[in-house]
Amino acid sequence: MTTKPVKTLANKRVLLGVSAGIAAYKTPDLVRKLTELGAEVEVILTRNADQFVAPLALQAVSGRSVHNYAMTAESESGMGHIDLARWADVVLIAPATANVIARLCQGNADELLTTVCVATEAPLAVAPAMNQQMWQNPATEENIKTLAGRGAFILGPDSGEQACGEIGPGRMLQPIEIARRLGTHFQLGAMAGKNVMITAGPTWEAIDPVRGITNHSSGLMGYALAQAAVESGANVTLVSGPTNLSPPERAKAINVTSALDMHAAVFAEIDDQDVFIGVAAVADYRPVNSVTHKIKKNADEMTITMVKNPDILADVASHSKRPFCVGFAAETNDVIDYARGKLERKKLDMIAANHVGSSETGFGTPNNAITLITNDSVTELPKQNKYALARVLMNEIAKKLP
Ligand code: C5P
Repeated sequence: MTTKPVKTLANKRVLLGVSAGIAAYKTPDLVRKLTELGAEVEVILTRNADQFVAPLALQAVSGRSVHNYAMTAESESGMGHIDLARWADVVLIAPATANVIARLCQGNADELLTTVCVATEAPLAVAPAMNQQMWQNPATEENIKTLAGRGAFILGPDSGEQACGEIGPGRMLQPIEIARRLGTHFQLGAMAGKNVMITAGPTWEAIDPVRGITNHSSGLMGYALAQAAVESGANVTLVSGPTNLSPPERAKAINVTSALDMHAAVFAEIDDQDVFIGVAAVADYRPVNSVTHKIKKNADEMTITMVKNPDILADVASHSKRPFCVGFAAETNDVIDYARGKLERKKLDMIAANHVGSSETGFGTPNNAITLITNDSVTELPKQNKYALARVLMNEIAKKLP
């Protein structure tokens, strides 16, 4: 009796980039394995990849027309590079040649696939396939390290006999193994059907119509968490203060300005939520009176009287219909102790403590490192790209849900 595979890629959109290596002949089978796990697959070939695999075969198994390397007026009038970049939940490059890996590292946008990789916010997964000498070349080693450091998921390579007759590392993993690892890595579906609300960014506390008090929060960590929650199958509401970021396509975005606005937006929908993650750097105080006209600089001194803002996270955690509550504690010293204090004081289920003293992690930087604390556990999530970290964090939250 055969058992049906668990659909770890249910509803997920996999953009498969096929580059010009001999292992490309296995990609129709890879498409089959991905679709068997529930994925929708859209294929882009790089220049010359059609020498190793017939586009028609890929079209037949994916049920969609296959994109070639060129960016022409005709191809762009259909699903162009930006549409493809937005469409993807994950970009999988298999096989990934040494050449395409090098171009990805440099951020080249010299043909359709590399352009989509530069334009997308979707995570990147790479299944290298090349001769063993090429795989062990220091340039390739460095390039792989660079991609992994930016959060790319490196699948393989396998070791063994190669198409060129040599024996060593560099073979592409078998299609079934690539599909299986992709599903497991992204843990897609871990939050399927859950309602997740996330606050992000800074707040702006007006002094007058043109001036205000704010902070350096970029919003990146909260937006990355919203993206990770969408990828894991949740219905996501992102309540954000002013940032320069675009919310994930399938999240419901609510833009607010002040802490009071944010509090109101959160409480308007809190009863429906299963999880609340407070990532916003909410201003602790606001000017008592925000005047409606611009203040003139007549006096030598001016005093602004401030009043305390509500603590949105603490209010959610003590709400009668309370979701699973996760807070963030940005600290410069005694990080764990302060974070544990906040966990207890605000009655949270989990707190993510991060060191903001360092120039390498925290506010405005692409990377972050977190210590995740609950009443009975402490888990270190090492320094990594905020998008990669967000996916790990989302899986940790999913494990704690009823
Ligand atoms: O107390 P502190 O500001 O350090 O707590 C940080 C945590 O509390 C973050 O999760 C933040 O989003 C949340 N918070 C809030 N409302 C406030 C202050 C902080 O939701 N007024």
